[in-house]
Amino acid sequence: MLELRDLVKHHLIGGGEPVRAVDGVSMQVCAGEMVALYGPSGSGKSTLLTVVAAVVAPDSGRVLVGGRDISMLSEAEAASYRLHELGYIDQSLELLSGGNVIQNAALKLWVTVGVRRGNRQIEPMLERLGLGGRLRHRADSLSMGERQRVMIARALSTEPKLLLADEPTGNLDTQRGREVLELLSEVCRERGTALLLVTHDPQATAYADRVHVLRDGRLAEFGPDSAPRSAAAAVLAPTLNTAIPGMDAASTAGTVPSAAATAPLR
Ligand SMILES: Nc1ncnc2c1ncn2[C@@H]1O[C@H](COP(=O)(O)OP(=O)(O)O)[C@@H](O)[C@H]1O
Ligand SMILES: [Mg+2]
Repeated sequence: MLELRDLVKHHLIGGGEPVRAVDGVSMQVCAGEMVALYGPSGSGKSTLLTVVAAVVAPDSGRVLVGGRDISMLSEAEAASYRLHELGYIDQSLELLSGGNVIQNAALKLWVTVGVRRGNRQIEPMLERLGLGGRLRHRADSLSMGERQRVMIARALSTEPKLLLADEPTGNLDTQRGREVLELLSEVCRERGTALLLVTHDPQATAYADRVHVLRDGRLAEFGPDSAPRSAAAAVLAPTLNTAIPGMDAASTAGTVPSAAATAPLR
């Protein structure tokens, strides 16, 4: 569904050295699969997603979505791609402050199916995200966690075939974060959506089918599409203060023990 081939995106600031935000990344996400890209702050995760969302163009490399290179799209085609094919949970949390929860979550549906139908259609997803009691609350009265869930509802609203999530649990408490991750993984399985989730939260990686580790814009020491969770856990382990019980057994079994997934790294 999504394939990145040797993707490069550098940022130029003033006359200085370019920042190598994404520096030759190759990876794939299949339909119905949840892939986590795990890396510390500044490792290039958000930059990579803006390129996949066709918000900025790559310097080189290819971004294939359903076989089509989205970096070659015109502006109008890119807008249509974002509206119809993509769900993008970015970190902005920017809602229309005068609008209520339903209106903000249904924005994309207003364009694709109309206002009335859109407002009706979005309600079950808002209920599922725990916002059923807030449907007519104004956006500017919402907590950061509630805003984040409105953004998630909007991203899922058009049933995109590709979903990008930038730290989707960043503003949520642990319990709500778990619920959102479970929901994202369920929705992807149900609908056959390809989900690329970027995060610096080890807990979030536990829900993924595969985990890649990003450091300084590059995938850490694994092949382009082969990093199993055990390999990611092996990378995470040395940064933990204590040994992870069951780590060796889990590595050979190809799973990350829950301690590895939830132990605080920062
Ligand atoms: N618009 C920008 N202009 C210049 N540098 C940027 C810009 N956006 C990000 N960077 C730099 O690119 C690197 C990767 O940033 P980012 O993609 O935001 O990483 P992450 O999401 O993993 O925290 C960082 O060094 C950051 O300072
Ligand atoms: Mg980021």
